[in-house]
Amino acid sequence: MQIKNSENINTRLLQDASDKVNSVLGKLPESAIILGSGLGILADQLGDARVIATKDIPGYPPSTVEGHRGRWVLGNLGDKTILAVQGRIHGYEGHPMDVLAHPINILASCDVKNLIVTNAAGAINRFYAPGDFMVIDDHINLTFKNPLFGNNVENLGPRFPDMSAPYDREFSAKIMQIGQELGIKMHKGVYVGVRGPSYETAAEIRMFDRIGADAVGMSTVPEVIAAIHRGMRVAGISCISNMATGISGQPLSHAEVTEVAENVKGNFLLLVTRFLMDS
Ligand code: HPA
Repeated sequence: MQIKNSENINTRLLQDASDKVNSVLGKLPESAIILGSGLGILADQLGDARVIATKDIPGYPPSTVEGHRGRWVLGNLGDKTILAVQGRIHGYEGHPMDVLAHPINILASCDVKNLIVTNAAGAINRFYAPGDFMVIDDHINLTFKNPLFGNNVENLGPRFPDMSAPYDREFSAKIMQIGQELGIKMHKGVYVGVRGPSYETAAEIRMFDRIGADAVGMSTVPEVIAAIHRGMRVAGISCISNMATGISGQPLSHAEVTEVAENVKGNFLLLVTRFLMDS
């Protein structure tokens, strides 16, 4: 895709980045998946894999969080080719919102149409348990920031993107159905995105409960806003890694989050593989 003019998105950098990705990986497939904390295993399962290190992509910041290797892996899952993004960047690492949107903009400019966003999240909803999965039905942006802030680049997307159904209903229904067929405990709920990196206080979690959130996490929301701006179809899957602060009375640790994600990676792999192969 040819990108013109220069506004809030650094279009020169975006063009260089998408050219670089295309030169190393070739044409990208229809679907990409962003792998959340501890869910990187999917990338290791891809056949005939081709890899680009994110440090070689212009404008891509280094991934500093344990469990997030900085690479994009293109490969086959059954008879489908997909791109796995193993190198998520988070706002709490200090990156501005436009930088968080950069990977999504690269994917969109490389003609990726479907984006599956995965994450580990803390359950606010008391009916959820660690190890369950939640299909993201909607989100609440409590980062108080927006990646589209600044002048809009009209040929990339609209000034005022509609957010009435950011998570594709057909994709969500399909993931729910596959999960249920596989005997995986599935929920559909609202994800509240916060900045982190400190975990929430118990009072904050009580507030999130009252405003209608089922799970909380520190990623996803900026990426999904950027993807909707670019006209992508989005599916979101949260792996419930812990009960949010104050729900179970246990202190939280990143080690616990990655450990639960590690334990359910088999289910995650099955769910996502079936979804990607069927879609
Ligand atoms: N809070 C915020 N982010 C998270 C959590 C949580 O409890 N679990 C996993 N990511």
